[in-house]
Amino acid sequence: MNNQVIIFDTSLRDGEQALPASLNVREKLQIALMLERLGVDVIEAGFPVSSPGDFKSVQLIAKEIKNARVCGLSRALAKDIDACGEALGVAEAFRIHTFIATSDIHVNTKLRKSQDEVVEMAIKAIKHASKYTDDIEFSCEDAGRTHIDYLCRMVEAAITAGATTVNIPDTVGYTIPSEFGSIISSLFNRVPNIDKAIISVHCHNDLGLAVANSLTAVEHGARQIECTINGIGERAGNCSLEEIVMTLKTRYQKLGLNTNINTQEIHRASKLVSQLCSMPVQANKAIVGANAFSHSSGIHQDGVLKGQNTYEIMTPESVGINKNVLNLTSRSGRHVIKHRLGELGYGPDEYDLDNIYESFVRLADKKGQVFDYDLEALLFFDQQKH
Ligand code: KIV
Ligand code: ZN
Repeated sequence: MNNQVIIFDTSLRDGEQALPASLNVREKLQIALMLERLGVDVIEAGFPVSSPGDFKSVQLIAKEIKNARVCGLSRALAKDIDACGEALGVAEAFRIHTFIATSDIHVNTKLRKSQDEVVEMAIKAIKHASKYTDDIEFSCEDAGRTHIDYLCRMVEAAITAGATTVNIPDTVGYTIPSEFGSIISSLFNRVPNIDKAIISVHCHNDLGLAVANSLTAVEHGARQIECTINGIGERAGNCSLEEIVMTLKTRYQKLGLNTNINTQEIHRASKLVSQLCSMPVQANKAIVGANAFSHSSGIHQDGVLKGQNTYEIMTPESVGINKNVLNLTSRSGRHVIKHRLGELGYGPDEYDLDNIYESFVRLADKKGQVFDYDLEALLFFDQQKH
């Protein structure tokens, strides 16, 4: 099996559709250029039929992006597919992503159709899309809650109709990893033409399991992961790109799994998306949160100063952050104070560490965080005393 994991970014579609206010065309292009620089393989640029603004931005992104495949979303309807074909047609190569729901609850309540009718609609849509491109992705919306027999039938029909990527979304973030893994492995065991398409996954984070479910799917053979920067997306969001990519890099490279992501661009991409989308990143968010590479307790700081990997499983540089942060608080020890004074240019013969440390702890108890200028002031007063 191919060990390359395709990274499909849907920040501009699933991510953007969840924002209180839409991004403008210029902002979307700025994000698309960042995603290209980051090295994502596929950029889902929008849903062209949904508004003239979305159509225009998908078209502009398709025109400007050269090093990633640009994709547009469509329901399994000819008018949606035509809008995709028209918007994306400015690019030499592009992907059309068409979808229809497959779970009983969606088929009966939302679509109000029979299962046979839904399969027919999917086949018709895929065949229609093939008039525009040979890169067609088909998604079984709410696959996570779809009966496995029907899911297998739909996936087989989609591949026979010409889908080159078949996406298995956990649309409402309902599955747990063991369950999602078994859905993917059932597909590989039961769908006869499965090797004719790439199996993709698209996990939502309603139970905080989007990354875990995506990883399990990869372990069972999926080779495309749909994700977003900072995990933005409908409700609790989508699988976060930075988390899944760094997990693959940190833990799965040994198994031979790779992505094309230039991980040193992750921090920059996260900041851009957060700013343009007005979606602050929580401080303790994995990989890109302000505290992801900061150490506070004296024991941890001492450990990191002795060997960075004592408390860091990846380097900050690997995700584009200059260096880690050692917060100076009442929990900090002597080692970090000496180290920080050294960074500020003061040698150990210029101060008495015990004295400085005693005043530092007193100040930290009152103030919380002690900054470099506080430390320099303590040093100055200490020098005045002697
Ligand atoms: O969550 C979902 O099912 C989707 C599909 C359109 C892929 O976003
Ligand atoms: Zn989604």
